[in-house]
Amino acid sequence: MIDIHNHMLPAVDDGAKNSQMALSMLKEAVNQGVQHLVLTPHLYEADIIKGTGEWKAKIEAGKRTVIELIAKHQLPLELSVAAEVRYQDMLPIILEELDVLIGGKYLLLEFAFHSVPNNLERIIYDITRTGVIPIIAHPERIKPWQREPQQLEELINMGCPTQVDIGSFLGTLGPNSEKLANFLFERDAVHLVGSDSHNLESRALYTKPGYNWLSDRYGKEYADLMLKINPGKILRGEPVEVYPVHLEPASSSWKDKILNMFKS
Ligand SMILES: [Fe+2]
Repeated sequence: MIDIHNHMLPAVDDGAKNSQMALSMLKEAVNQGVQHLVLTPHLYEADIIKGTGEWKAKIEAGKRTVIELIAKHQLPLELSVAAEVRYQDMLPIILEELDVLIGGKYLLLEFAFHSVPNNLERIIYDITRTGVIPIIAHPERIKPWQREPQQLEELINMGCPTQVDIGSFLGTLGPNSEKLANFLFERDAVHLVGSDSHNLESRALYTKPGYNWLSDRYGKEYADLMLKINPGKILRGEPVEVYPVHLEPASSSWKDKILNMFKS
């Protein structure tokens, strides 16, 4: 399997704190059946406010450490390094100066959990016209989309693949994420899944249980599509099939609505 979203690069973000922790996570990836890891540290505006030099140096150091760990412990893992880029005004600079794309074409793009820009279509259009395809990272965890999933329809219909976190459909990331993940699966609005693993405890890998869950519910072919075939195409910079979807407003009971008001 291929894990296209995780935070195992040491000492860069809120994922692996040091090389020891990175090693434990790399070993866990092997145990769970992952053959290729795309390391995607968070990249926020604050990381490059004084220029991109410091970020480049941190990534290079982390990458060297991981390559050494893989060689020293003879782990059967292939490696790529990209980033999970939070949407921000510096995006053109990031795309010009940093090596953040997967397969030379795909950008793992995340939005803030509590608010999304209201000119999203324009933002996506501006990115795609440069030849870059945004992958929408864990849409099921974004509060405004949990309330109004129909907002995602246009982004998918513009050709953006969506990546759901495995923890969301396994229920470890809360009921609202679980609910939207299921809503999206039922409407063929998910194109790949990723671990988004930050550690071995609260944000563990779950790739194998995730594969089994998908296989049990939707069949082995679908599980392969989510964790092998589409991630493989992305790694190679090949097109992923993103069909038009129709996402109707989420129906929710009064009880759900009141609970959501307190959660957001
Ligand atoms: Fe992430």
